[in-house]
Amino acid sequence: MSSESEYVTGLSREALDPERGTPIDTPWGMYSLHLVGDEVVCVQAFCPHMDGPLFEGTRAGSRLVCPWHSWIYDLSSCERVDSGDEEGRCLDHLLVIEGVDGALALRKAD
Ligand code: FES
Repeated sequence: MSSESEYVTGLSREALDPERGTPIDTPWGMYSLHLVGDEVVCVQAFCPHMDGPLFEGTRAGSRLVCPWHSWIYDLSSCERVDSGDEEGRCLDHLLVIEGVDGALALRKAD
């Protein structure tokens, strides 16, 4: 069930590829789901730099590298880690809630 503040994805963590992002259309726009260790992280699908397809980025552990200009983000903090520049410092992200049935739901972070 979805409400204004929560969106049920219809996906479970088993449906996620551990090596790449899974793009998902939400009421708040396009995001991508990433399996990072035991955690599921949901961040904006397109890069803050020039809207590159960040969901197609290369993954190495919690690191996500944008395929266009190689900006690097840490999915644990959702912050850019390859530069101290303020531009593109943080990725927009959603809270991920895992239901008792394993279904993943998303909620807008405050
Ligand atoms: S569009 Fe992602 S680094 Fe340039």
